Amino acid sequence: MIQQTQIIREPIAYEKIPTRIFQSASDASKAVAEEIAELIKQRQKEGKNAILGLATGSSPKTVYAELIRMHREEGVSFKNVISFNLDEYYPMQPDAIQSYWRFMREQLFNHVDIPEGNYHIPDGTVSPQMLAQHCEEYEKMIEDAGGLDFQLLGIGGNGHIGFNEPGSHENSRTRLMMLDHSTRAAAKADFGGELTKVPKKAITMGVSKILSAKRVVLLAWGERKAPKIADAVEGVVSEHNPASYLQQHPNALFVVDEAAASELIRMKSPWQVEDVEWSAQMTKKAVTSLSLTLQKPVLKLTNKDYNDNGLSDLLALHGRAYDINIEVFNQLQHTITGWPGGKPNADDTHRPERALPARKTCLIFSPHPDDDIISMGGTFQRLVDQGHDVHVAYQTSGNIAVADEEAHRFLEFVIDYNEKFGVESEKTLTNYKKAIDYLENKKDSELDSPEVRNVKGLIRRGEAKATCRHVGIPPENVHFLDMPFYETGQVQKKPLGKKDVEIVADLIEGIKPHQIYAAGDLADPHGTHKVCLDAVFAALKKLKPQNFMKDCWVWLYRGAWAEWDIHEIQMAVPMSPDQVLEKRMGIFKHQSQKDGVVFQGTDSREFWQRAEERNSGTAQLYNLLGLAEYEAMEAFVRYYF
Ligand code: F6R
Repeated sequence: MIQQTQIIREPIAYEKIPTRIFQSASDASKAVAEEIAELIKQRQKEGKNAILGLATGSSPKTVYAELIRMHREEGVSFKNVISFNLDEYYPMQPDAIQSYWRFMREQLFNHVDIPEGNYHIPDGTVSPQMLAQHCEEYEKMIEDAGGLDFQLLGIGGNGHIGFNEPGSHENSRTRLMMLDHSTRAAAKADFGGELTKVPKKAITMGVSKILSAKRVVLLAWGERKAPKIADAVEGVVSEHNPASYLQQHPNALFVVDEAAASELIRMKSPWQVEDVEWSAQMTKKAVTSLSLTLQKPVLKLTNKDYNDNGLSDLLALHGRAYDINIEVFNQLQHTITGWPGGKPNADDTHRPERALPARKTCLIFSPHPDDDIISMGGTFQRLVDQGHDVHVAYQTSGNIAVADEEAHRFLEFVIDYNEKFGVESEKTLTNYKKAIDYLENKKDSELDSPEVRNVKGLIRRGEAKATCRHVGIPPENVHFLDMPFYETGQVQKKPLGKKDVEIVADLIEGIKPHQIYAAGDLADPHGTHKVCLDAVFAALKKLKPQNFMKDCWVWLYRGAWAEWDIHEIQMAVPMSPDQVLEKRMGIFKHQSQKDGVVFQGTDSREFWQRAEERNSGTAQLYNLLGLAEYEAMEAFVRYYF
């Protein structure tokens, strides 16, 4: 059983499934891998097999990586493991890059000593006529092996477990399922960004088989999972959220990171669950939440409001609502500034940024070539307009997010241009034509050729340069880092390497910024943003002893997907309606990221729409809390290193 420390003692009010929250997915994964290894070893001692139900997707990857490490370094053997995977797309060839058969071999089986015949994955190649029989046989094989000792699960953004989509019955058996639109949209990036290529069906182990496992551990990382986790743990059992069936399991555990736990009551309003220490931050969290729940501005909250909503201890501490209200109102007020680089010659006691030096050197890290403008375009523009020396560093090439058709179009342009102006030799032209040929005949299981990847990277580079021209920074302030961890040509990236950190550290050292902006994205812990952030953090740590770093402040913005919670925001930069439009034009420079992009996720809005709705949402929240009404706001949290 997992013994790791958890944030709050058990049992926890409102929670119907034991849930352990870890600071990071990697700590959590270690604990889960430990439990699996213990089970395998225990069974070995008993001379028995360990029967494991395994999952694919991004969530279990870190668990598998840890199991591989344990195999290599601690001699954990998988000889007595018999495994059954939850699901497979249908139809699907086993060698296709999207197949779960290939996934399992690459992520686990090829690296441990599990005998070849011991692992089972539903077969995506069986004929439609044989499907029902195949599903029956799959269930029978599990039963013949003695039933599942341990089932590892991920959870879909819609609550699915395995591919048991919402609507699945708790008695459902292994079967062919129609995939939910949101599931297919989330998988789009694995299929070259084309929804039409994502299979419409999958074979999945049924809910009843999952529930029959002796132990079930469900993993969830990142904010995207937070609503369904909270609903499964605290809500009613319902087919609308298949993960909620686990409330009925006697030995289930949810293992989540803080982002995936963020919608649980114990995280959102811990004062409802246990006694809390009323720090300034906790007070701000409670008061803003009370104000938004009651839809009453902070300054209008009364003693009764506090008493009626479980905050009487906070009230008792201060004596009266008026004092708490004023304190929190001032805190909120002091986060707002139109001078993100500091206001020259002003008293900065209550401002988020220092006044001096009046002209700062600022370095914006943008994980992909468009995060700068999408997430902090208004602030970027203000920094430039207010005379600071602003640099942007594009951390990755972003090449995998360009659709094949877009690359095709650009290649054709180059060929036509060169032919028209006779600037290229026959040989180079042939190379371009080869790249087009490659695209035209690309199979689903193939990655882009290096030439195609280069072209895609250049398309994004050109768009980023256009944005920088739009905002008004000189070309020498635009840096393309092309961090190597990203350059795999597929969704799966390499882990952060020494070279990646070195590139980031060298740039910081060369520029010696007073301000660094980085994407503090926790929403997608396996994604590029998190790796890019880790690189910045590692570089900061490395450079910390240097003198110039004493004068360097770091501000974190959130990526395209989510915003900081209102109580966390330490700097809110307002935007006028005109500035919102300016920002929109800056985002429009990223033509390859418009109209059904590769990494759309489950949100069908364009990036400019997401950015605008999010920025106006933040402004509305401030307004609801009783502060001035702005058109839009960008938000930042300071990172102390
Ligand atoms: C995969 C599976 C799915 C995933 C779920 C989450 O075998 O059964 O239920 O666990 O879609 O996927 P990730 O972890 O990629 O978010």
